[in-house]
Amino acid sequence: MKITIIYGNQRKGSTYNSVQLLKEELNRNGTIEYSEVFLPADLPEFCRGCFDCILKGEEHCPDKKQIQSVIAKMLSADGVILASPVYALDVSAPMKNLLDHLCYLWLAHRPDNQFFTKTGFVLSTSAGKGTKRTNRTLKLTLDYLGFKRVYSYGVNVAASDWSGISEKKKTKIKADLTKKAAKFYKATINRENLRFRPKTRGIFLMMKNLIKTYDDDNLDKNYWLKQGWLNGNSPYKKEVISEEK
Ligand SMILES: Cc1cc2nc3c(=O)[nH]c(=O)nc-3n(C[C@H](O)[C@H](O)[C@H](O)COP(=O)(O)O)c2cc1C
Repeated sequence: MKITIIYGNQRKGSTYNSVQLLKEELNRNGTIEYSEVFLPADLPEFCRGCFDCILKGEEHCPDKKQIQSVIAKMLSADGVILASPVYALDVSAPMKNLLDHLCYLWLAHRPDNQFFTKTGFVLSTSAGKGTKRTNRTLKLTLDYLGFKRVYSYGVNVAASDWSGISEKKKTKIKADLTKKAAKFYKATINRENLRFRPKTRGIFLMMKNLIKTYDDDNLDKNYWLKQGWLNGNSPYKKEVISEEK
């Protein structure tokens, strides 16, 4: 199994170490090959809001080299982990920058159907408050990319670094992640056979009805036509063999 991990910060603090615990637990379930992305190092430029990716094509993004390299790592994996510290009650700025760069791939534009059978895991750490909102922000992107399942874990560590966290808290994080890792692993290994979520299908259908009405020279409309999604060819046709327990 291949898993790509994207860190919203570069310091090896509480977020990084929590992910290492998650990795340890995942490794107890099976053999996993990891690929890691560190932000902002691997995507240093902020989205300029030029709309070029959305209106002209992703090859026109001024940061195409970096963002396409991150996307390639996401596409080559079975599962993707997004991890961020909580800053101002939400994701870190480098992580938000990645989410902005991914917007052209949302179901509202030109989603890559390879994401439709992938699983995601979002993880955040805060001193005392904000993991719920942060995980919601992270999960929203994976939902709108069409991921099949997304799991989440947030922890208030009451510390500014991993070394400041009590042993009791670390034991609790490890125990929580043991359970979460087992669920994530099971879904990822069985990802092709899991039922598509009604929510994702609903967004897809809503977008299909909207995109149908676009002008014929619209890039998104032409992409959807090319996929056959406006001509009765649904990515959700191949259905349910078994459901996760
Ligand atoms: C700029 C900045 C903003 C922060 N904002 C919050 C916050 O809104 N809520 C909170 O509980 N902790 C906040 N924190 C604390 C971190 O979220 C927390 O210590 C986290 O575990 C740090 O992760 P790291 O060790 O991976 O860097 C903030 C820290 C920094 C540096």
